[in-house]
Amino acid sequence: MKIGFIGGGHVAQVLAKLFIGKGHTVVLTNKHGLEKLKPTIERLGSQAQAGNLAEVVRQDVVVLAVPYKAVFEIESQLLQGKDIIDATNYFPHRDGDIEELREHQKATTELVAQHFKGANVVKAFNTIPVADLARLATSKDNVKRVALPIAGNDAVLKDKVASLITEIGFTPYDVGSLADSRKSQSDTPAFLFVGNKEELSKKIGD
Ligand SMILES: NC(=O)c1ccc[n+]([C@@H]2O[C@H](COP(=O)([O-])OP(=O)(O)OC[C@H]3O[C@@H](n4cnc5c(N)ncnc54)[C@H](OP(=O)(O)O)[C@@H]3O)[C@@H](O)[C@H]2O)c1
Repeated sequence: MKIGFIGGGHVAQVLAKLFIGKGHTVVLTNKHGLEKLKPTIERLGSQAQAGNLAEVVRQDVVVLAVPYKAVFEIESQLLQGKDIIDATNYFPHRDGDIEELREHQKATTELVAQHFKGANVVKAFNTIPVADLARLATSKDNVKRVALPIAGNDAVLKDKVASLITEIGFTPYDVGSLADSRKSQSDTPAFLFVGNKEELSKKIGD
């Protein structure tokens, strides 16, 4: 699969490495210019490229790996009809007060999907710290098969993302629809939790 990343920081770099390890190619973009991504691309090797946003959105699936508030700075038209993985988390102190989130009227990813109207959005990879992701992503270390939550309304995209999760050594855990993605947000017990499917299910309260 060809995987684009909006963001070239911690999350993008770790996921890109893991996906490349399974034969995928990646294109990363960032905020402060592609020159800054040069060392990252050199480290990731020939299956990785830096590119502008237009190049990133041409990939099969696009991972949002930016601070939550930055999502809303991205030109939404560019992602019309695209498959998106939302790996972001909302932190009011970093991202500002958003009434619908403060009042729990919407899940954070529902607002992302609202912004990218006409795109398919799945929330995934947001709960696990990147250090754990990198450390556990080998079958040898990940004997417990740590479960990663996944939520969304599009069954086909969910299957694709579940396959990526499985490929890199984890177990997908379906928390439900985009509205249900509130169960795996940064203000829930599932956030930062590292455990297998049964353990995660108890945390989530399913
Ligand atoms: N760190 C974790 O363990 C972890 C785990 C799961 C989920 N998350 C979530 O994933 C997201 C990314 O976290 P991170 O740790 O990877 O952050 P990070 O290391 O600070 O990287 C953020 C990246 O976003 C880029 N960026 C910011 N605004 C942008 C814009 N408008 N367009 C394009 N790129 C933009 C930055 O570009 P520049 O480099 O040019 O500034 C940077 O490459 C956050 O929402 C975080 O809460 C983090």
